[in-house]
Amino acid sequence: MMRSNDTPVTLDLFADQAPTTSGRIEPIGQQSFVLRGFALPWLERLLPALEKVLQAAPFRQMVTPGGFTMSVALTSCGALGWTTDRRGYRYTAHDPQSGQPWPEMPGVFRELAQAAARHARFEGFEPDACLINRYVPGARMSLHQDKDERALDAPIVSVSLGLPAVFQFGGFERGDKCQRIALLHGDIVVWGGVDRLRYHGVLALKEGLHPALGAQRINLTFRTAG
Ligand code: SIN
Ligand code: FE2
Repeated sequence: MMRSNDTPVTLDLFADQAPTTSGRIEPIGQQSFVLRGFALPWLERLLPALEKVLQAAPFRQMVTPGGFTMSVALTSCGALGWTTDRRGYRYTAHDPQSGQPWPEMPGVFRELAQAAARHARFEGFEPDACLINRYVPGARMSLHQDKDERALDAPIVSVSLGLPAVFQFGGFERGDKCQRIALLHGDIVVWGGVDRLRYHGVLALKEGLHPALGAQRINLTFRTAG
């Protein structure tokens, strides 16, 4: 972890609980925003749809081209799903584990992603890929850019569910300073435009038990990949 390049952790990171911050739009870059609690009103429809997707395409741990098993377990829905193995990172139309097409993106997923994009002033977002990440305590995502998508003019819409996490939002070089942002259940981060290729990552998840999702954090990342 590149802790030495990070700004110090803000104490009291989780003191702001969702009810007091819900509805707030926090700019974190020129074209990057945290939409606090934006997904909360959608969850009654979204969580059952997520469960169905996970039945058809369960979480699995994937291997990076460098041979490391990712601590985050992944799956996808939508026309394209992001995968990694020893041969590299790529989008595929089929789940390599089942040989079946990835599950269809539920309508409620697409509607939420589009509403969040619009709220962050990105018009006409048409996601064709939803990567679903599961973090258990200790799991983390190291700094990276999302750059396997064909169209880099579309934003990224990233929905946080379950346990809180610390999101790192950096610059255009891996070594650039990172902001550290606490993401809670229902928060959405949207970045695009001039910020589309900014490095980002997630620090190791802390132990905890979320009332709705238990001992995990689930992240939905919507992209236009094809
Ligand atoms: C990702 O960059 O794919 C995941 C980000 C997150 O889990 O918040
Ligand atoms: Fe990413």
